[in-house]
Amino acid sequence: MPTRLTACQADITTLPVDAIVNAANTTLLGGGGVDGAIHRAAGPELLSACRPLGGCATGDAKLTPGFRLPARHVIHTVGPIWHGGGQNEAALLAACYRRCLEIATDAGCTSLAFPCISTGVYRFPPEAAAAIAVQHVSEWLAHHNHPLQEVIFCCFSAEDLARYHALLAKI
Ligand code: APR
Repeated sequence: MPTRLTACQADITTLPVDAIVNAANTTLLGGGGVDGAIHRAAGPELLSACRPLGGCATGDAKLTPGFRLPARHVIHTVGPIWHGGGQNEAALLAACYRRCLEIATDAGCTSLAFPCISTGVYRFPPEAAAAIAVQHVSEWLAHHNHPLQEVIFCCFSAEDLARYHALLAKI
């Protein structure tokens, strides 16, 4: 059964999936944007669970429980900060998506939701980021054994949703 790849426009903290991905920073100690929303919704235990993890490198990801979230797990990943495209940003963003899929697979997740990693505070151009996300997620799913039945690209804006729908229609 192929994995369903879908896009929606929602607050990712409301999604009742096995795991949501957090667009965190290298400290894993919270922040603004989707990071702030997830920590607010999960409650203070999330920060307590993040502290002992010792941070996270750009392009990597780490798993915690979801606590008060409807999602069972949070996969914290650190996307690249956009510096114009000459500092390996595209490869690092692709690595975020792959690492999250690996961790979700190891955790036995059947459903997973991604925000638009790096496209807010980190200023990665959203069109390019969406193309990287859809390409690398669909390629990874096609070439690995995994329990994932649904992967959702959770957009916060209508513009991002339109981008993902256009890209998903082509695969
Ligand atoms: N649900 C879904 N998506 C959201 C939500 C939400 N509740 N809140 C924001 N977003 C979207 C933004 O609109 C953007 O499209 O998440 C995407 C990522 O934006 P940021 O949250 O700014 O993340 P990023 O660009 O990866 O920057 C990470 O920002 O919040 C800090 O601690 C974080 O330092 C880190 C940096």
